[in-house]
Amino acid sequence: MLRHLLPLLLLLLCSNSIGRVSSHQESGEWSCDADSENQVEAEFRPGLVTVDGHADDWKDIDGFEFPLRPALDPDEDHEYKGGKMTVKALHDGHDAFFMVQVDGDYVYSKGTSNKCPSVALMFQIGESATYHNMGGCSEGRDTCNNKSCKGHEVDMMHFSIGNAIPGRLYGGNPIDNRDGYGGDRFGHLVDLYAWTPHCRYLDGLGPSGNDTSAQNDWKGAWWHSSFTTHSGFIEEDSPYASDGKKGTYYFEFSRPLRTMDRLQQDAQFTIGGSSKMSVAFWYPVDGQPWHGSGHYSIHCDWVPLEISSGNSKLTKSAPSVSANVSSAFALVLSVASLCLSVFVGYMLFRTPTVGPYTTMDGNL
Ligand SMILES: *[C@@H]1O[C@H](CO)[C@@H](O)[C@H](O)[C@H]1NC(C)=O
Ligand SMILES: *[C@@H]1O[C@H](CO)[C@@H](O)[C@H](O)[C@H]1NC(C)=O
Repeated sequence: MLRHLLPLLLLLLCSNSIGRVSSHQESGEWSCDADSENQVEAEFRPGLVTVDGHADDWKDIDGFEFPLRPALDPDEDHEYKGGKMTVKALHDGHDAFFMVQVDGDYVYSKGTSNKCPSVALMFQIGESATYHNMGGCSEGRDTCNNKSCKGHEVDMMHFSIGNAIPGRLYGGNPIDNRDGYGGDRFGHLVDLYAWTPHCRYLDGLGPSGNDTSAQNDWKGAWWHSSFTTHSGFIEEDSPYASDGKKGTYYFEFSRPLRTMDRLQQDAQFTIGGSSKMSVAFWYPVDGQPWHGSGHYSIHCDWVPLEISSGNSKLTKSAPSVSANVSSAFALVLSVASLCLSVFVGYMLFRTPTVGPYTTMDGNL
């Protein structure tokens, strides 16, 4: 019976996925060649990195390289000329950490975010949320909400560095989190969610009302390799280095694996589980300010993010060795105690029954 059902099931599965692909193409000329090699793995490496924008502490972590192509037109000819983007990830059992690095001549214009590089992470929340169209809900700007677009939620973190001092920590802070939303008035490292590009909100805000139980759960910092000092920039040091210097931009982020979100506005990560992510990058090419949709992306679809459990081979073999040692030790101990009890029993047997016990009885 099962033998006959299996091909039928496979056929059903295949025709279902083919159907989905063609319906995807009907809605526009969007197409994306799947790349099964693509993935980001977050190893369990506690106590390794500090979120300060510096990449030295990440040097032993494998990076995953991606070409940067325009998100709206992923054409090879329009690839970002500066080079590939490297994405690294790890977790310490509580927080997830991301290091995003990309070569780029130094450009910084204080207070003008679209004349500075900028980076965003995006994760799937709802099971129906597509990479394309930021969740892919078909409702328009006036009708999208948490009911009509249910299942299409994507989670985003966007860092615009125009007001962020390099090496300083931005993102979730007590003042904005007290107001219960995903904003960051200091450095513009914000926590958002969306159903489509036109239905994008800071966590806690929404078209059908605000809910002050939300938080900005992200923290992050940035750096450029042309900076000569490693300690304490302040705002007056802006622009921190001279324009056009060759180097690499570093963007480092962290977020708890689980958040207290009750509104389906944060992706939740599971140790040993898999999520779907993407990274976007904005750069003022030839000094031209970028616009919102003019960003590069690491791929034209979701990239799997694997959150490894701490149960790797290395940590597995270690306890088994010590377990062997301790069980051998326990065996020696129990043999010794057996011998001791036999000896004690023998001595008791040999001792005359009248002894100290009777003396005590007599005293009472
Ligand atoms: C939600 O908060 C935003 C930003 O503070 C505000 O503009 C909007 O009017 C609020 N919406 C409602 C329904 O209160
Ligand atoms: C939609 O959001 C509003 C405001 O946060 C909330 O009151 C409502 O319960 C939500 N509805 C659903 C179906 O999640």
